[in-house]
Amino acid sequence: MSNLVTVVLAAGKGTRMKSALPKVLHRVGGKHMLQHVLDAAKAAGAKRNIVVTGFGGETVREAIGDQAEFVTQEEQLGTGHAVLQAKSLLEGETGTVMVLCGDTPLLTGELLKRLYDAHQEAGAKATVLTAIMPDPTGYGRIVHMADGSVEKIVEHKDATEEERKIKEINSGIYCFEAKELFSALGEVKNDNAQGEYYLPDVLEILRKQGKKIWAVATEDYESTFGINSRSQLAQAEKILRHRKNEELMAEGVTLMDPDTTFIDADVRIGRDTVIYPFTWIEGKSVIGENCELGPNVRLQNVTIGNGVTGQFTYAHDAVIDDGVILGQFVHIRPDTHLMEKVKIGNFVEVKNSNVGKGTKLPHLSYIGDCDMGANVNMGCGTITVNYDGKKKFRTVVGDNAFIGCNSNLVAPVTIEDNAYVGAGSTITKRVPSDNLAIARARQTNIAEWGDKRK
Ligand code: UD1
Ligand code: MG
Repeated sequence: MSNLVTVVLAAGKGTRMKSALPKVLHRVGGKHMLQHVLDAAKAAGAKRNIVVTGFGGETVREAIGDQAEFVTQEEQLGTGHAVLQAKSLLEGETGTVMVLCGDTPLLTGELLKRLYDAHQEAGAKATVLTAIMPDPTGYGRIVHMADGSVEKIVEHKDATEEERKIKEINSGIYCFEAKELFSALGEVKNDNAQGEYYLPDVLEILRKQGKKIWAVATEDYESTFGINSRSQLAQAEKILRHRKNEELMAEGVTLMDPDTTFIDADVRIGRDTVIYPFTWIEGKSVIGENCELGPNVRLQNVTIGNGVTGQFTYAHDAVIDDGVILGQFVHIRPDTHLMEKVKIGNFVEVKNSNVGKGTKLPHLSYIGDCDMGANVNMGCGTITVNYDGKKKFRTVVGDNAFIGCNSNLVAPVTIEDNAYVGAGSTITKRVPSDNLAIARARQTNIAEWGDKRK
């Protein structure tokens, strides 16, 4: 499909969303609706995407960046008028233009490819993707000719009683031959119930010129759902989640309870990984094989190796290598790299730190801005003191260092390889290799103090 171009309509305000955010930027399944549409177009082989913006255009452009070209529709005068705005960008285009809507996040690349292939096979000038809707209210209806080709599309508001009984609806997704599309758009009028320039009128105009107009029906009407309200957004979320869960299970991932497992569309998970209930895996996360995650885990944009276990954990924008264990009530914050077989116990927070192979942070620690070697043992309650109220400083802990419980490592500071720190120390100076540092007041025992007090 090397010469496929898409025009994505995204100028509408989406009044029913009751939102300051343009409708197409509402998120579902981990990314905004327009991104889902562009990803489906990409998967179908589109080489160029033109997005028609209007309401909140600046915000939409920012969100999409260089994934598309943009044209502005100043006033929303209808879908035909919206497509017309792309004319100047498509002047020399001789191939097929696919028109999509930015508010249909359930589309798949497969479905778009089917439409495109059917359009080419039929040798049609326009082909519309249709679906049989259990409740077609509100949609444009497909009126066929005796030979199966399309006579016209009538909008619900313009339809007769008889036409309203038709259950085959216009999905709002079409393939057009570029030249025919723009010449016919010039003839579309707005003498209809909504006073709008309807894109579907192009089909009837071309048909009257003797051109072949085709329809391809999909059984999977869900995939063509257009989202107009928060309630429909929630329905789409459910459908996307179900789809993702089924896909993962088919690939060999165990989901103990799909109903309480929330995995974003772009997440990848390796075989034989087991996901316990109440687990969220979001954004661009990549999870390896043989992991056990959950219950109650939330992962955002994390890269996790094989054989990692974690429960009651929140990790984001971090890299976690093979065999790491994440205990309960753990917070792994951005720019953290936990290397192979690191063991994190209960109530531990790690931020912007590298933690070397086999190192243990078993209980109640805060590790921030720290470069820690391999096989370090951080005693219970040990923390890095990384912030002086103005600036953050780094702590370095060498390989095999043993830090006693409840120590404060006041950064910038270095504990060298194989060094020891006595429990309860507040370390402010370098601890050389193999030394034991003790930095706490000596204990005094006052004899018979209790008796005197009485
Ligand atoms: C449209 C179709 C209808 C089809 C339905 C499928 C028309 C006239 N009707 O109706 O046959 O069954 O989609 O969902 O096309 N938009 C603009 N500029 C405009 C108007 C709309 O960019 O001036 C965009 C909207 O943001 C939206 C898309 O076009 O993404 C569809 O517009 P909408 O108003 O939702 O059309 P429907 O009434 O749903
Ligand atoms: Mg609509």
